[in-house]
Amino acid sequence: MAFGRRLSTMAPIDCSKGQTVASRVLSSFLAAQHRELDQLMEGADNACGTPQGAAVFARFREAMEHHLEIEERVLFPEFARRTGPGGPLVVMRQEHDAIRGLLSAHQSGGDAACRALFDTMTVLVSQHHLKEENVLYPMSDTLLAGCAEDLLAAMREAPAIHG
Ligand SMILES: [Fe+2]
Ligand SMILES: [Fe+2]
Repeated sequence: MAFGRRLSTMAPIDCSKGQTVASRVLSSFLAAQHRELDQLMEGADNACGTPQGAAVFARFREAMEHHLEIEERVLFPEFARRTGPGGPLVVMRQEHDAIRGLLSAHQSGGDAACRALFDTMTVLVSQHHLKEENVLYPMSDTLLAGCAEDLLAAMREAPAIHG
């Protein structure tokens, strides 16, 4: 997709320059996306079985996939360069795969199946967001302080979540 191509050609980000005092630049931006996703998820849950259900779900799916891709293509690689391949990223990637699995499992069929899927989705996404906001994002603010503005610019370069 265009987003991936654009990021793959992005100039390398140098985290050794810039300010070294942690700000909340990264955590603020990403947590704000979580709040948008929470609202879209609730809307898609409530729209299960309604005529507009498929369209509302498609909007949620697009926004969620966009957010997961931003984290995996921009944040996680820079984070891993400073912490190694283990640490919290292992669980974060597993949860991203689980979220994608649920998104793919969504069917336009029955109301009950849709609501059951969102029962699982809501728990998974809520727990994932909490872990990121309590652990990963604060660590990112500290570890990536020297390139936070560059990373933010790279994330903003991606198409905006439709509001
Ligand atoms: Fe995530
Ligand atoms: Fe996230």
